[in-house]
Amino acid sequence: MKVIEVRNISFRYRNTEEYALKNVSFSVEKGELVGIIGPSGSGKSTLCLTLNGIIPQSITGRFSGEILITNPQTGENMNTVLTPVPKLSTVVGLVLQNPESQLFNMTVEDEVAFALENLGLPRDEIEKRIGWALRIVGLEDKKEEFPPNLSGGEKQRLAIACVLAMKTPILVLDEPTSELDPKGKKDVLGIIKKLKGKGFTILMSEHDSNFLFKNADKILVMNGGSVVFQGTPKEISDKIDELIELGVRVPKSLLVSKKLGLPPAFTPSELLSLLKARRD
Ligand SMILES: Nc1ncnc2c1ncn2[C@@H]1O[C@H](COP(=O)(O)OP(=O)(O)OP(=O)(O)O)[C@@H](O)[C@H]1O
Ligand SMILES: [Mg+2]
Repeated sequence: MKVIEVRNISFRYRNTEEYALKNVSFSVEKGELVGIIGPSGSGKSTLCLTLNGIIPQSITGRFSGEILITNPQTGENMNTVLTPVPKLSTVVGLVLQNPESQLFNMTVEDEVAFALENLGLPRDEIEKRIGWALRIVGLEDKKEEFPPNLSGGEKQRLAIACVLAMKTPILVLDEPTSELDPKGKKDVLGIIKKLKGKGFTILMSEHDSNFLFKNADKILVMNGGSVVFQGTPKEISDKIDELIELGVRVPKSLLVSKKLGLPPAFTPSELLSLLKARRD
């Protein structure tokens, strides 16, 4: 079942000359993990902002093309230009690149509750969801904490919890590990893997492509506002020279396997097995 269909969209921010998105088309099936990679300024964040209608409804400019979102639970179709953002946000949860801009309550718990109160849910359901979302991101012991006092990684995990608690079937995460230390990064990527396992449809942009080559069903490569390649990690790995030229960081094991004329290895252990198999 197709849950996102992006049809030839272009977007130019107000008062700018260059289009930030140019003729972008792709679709996403229910339950897929889709990665967006590309150099800085290539349009990854802009694309994320179109998916729940913030562009062009709140951030205006010149927008053309069409995005259709299907609620996998009800089958309802929504056009991101015509359906109000609050309604789209009940289906597409968006975690922004800078999580601080999404946090403004006095405690971690209130932060998660805030979005839910707007949904008009009963109190006990709200309590249940807060507990569930904070447990998934490992912040259940920080309920009373003042969000600005959290570490960068905890803030990023809190922003994810807020979106999770809404139980939107589609999650869009814009560089969810950009500000994290290696441990925080591992935690957040672990959460994303877990969510994929639970049937969420996930789109995420990420500078470091290791995780995506290993876990994504599909990768979109952006440059200058266009999707220059899209396909499975295996298909994208055929474009490794082009990716390096674009300045996209590719997994080391992939580089080595290509250099040695082996099939693509997305992790060091895959590379090791390939080397062993060749030796034997
Ligand atoms: N609010 C804005 N107003 C005007 N131009 C913008 C705005 N936000 C982004 N742009 C421009 O749109 C283009 C795409 O930017 P975008 O932030 O989507 O790229 P990105 O791939 O997310 O980059 P990064 O990897 O640095 O996060 C850039 O040329 C950028 O300068
Ligand atoms: Mg960005």
